[in-house]
Amino acid sequence: MTEAPQVLLAEGTIRARVDELARQISRDYAAAGDLLLVGVLRGCYIFLADLSRRLTVPRRIDFIAVSAYRGKAQTSPGAVRLLMDVRTDIAGRHVLLVEDIVDTGRTLRYLQGLFRARRPASLKTCALLRKPERLQNAIAVDYLGFDIPDAWVVGYGLDYRDRLRALPYIGTVEPDRWGEGEPRGGP
Ligand code: PRP
Repeated sequence: MTEAPQVLLAEGTIRARVDELARQISRDYAAAGDLLLVGVLRGCYIFLADLSRRLTVPRRIDFIAVSAYRGKAQTSPGAVRLLMDVRTDIAGRHVLLVEDIVDTGRTLRYLQGLFRARRPASLKTCALLRKPERLQNAIAVDYLGFDIPDAWVVGYGLDYRDRLRALPYIGTVEPDRWGEGEPRGGP
């Protein structure tokens, strides 16, 4: 028998924080003229959808997909692989990378290197969640939703075995208990 996720951040708590982030970003980019939001697939999709709709400044949206190397084929521990690049020419643009979660920080460090080399007008980072206990890289998150404990989190875009992304709240699960079974709690 599997257990439903435990609520860590309720729907209203997330909504209020995303509202605050959107206000802060809108203030900071008021003079920029144009802002390019780059969502890091796949976990960002709900956060980016909510955040982008609450901004009051002109913005474009693009996506990038990356994956950590895993399994026996891994030759470079911690390496990040580019699966799908953005379509937008980054040079001269004000770019804001939008992540659902910063865990070790490897993904964000990789993306910062990738985008800096493309000569944006500015490059900042936004993450809904960060796990301070897991961070292995000194990564600056310019706009942060919440620092959270080192637990497996699901919902609001985040998955367990590619499920539970559509939960309206962010919950924690214990993967051991779910080793063989299907996760409960929704799609
Ligand atoms: C998650 C998350 C970040 C990354 C953070 O992606 O969306 O992109 O891990 O981890 P890091 O700080 O240790 O690099 P995941 O690989 O789970 O893919 P998904 O977004 O497609 O679910």
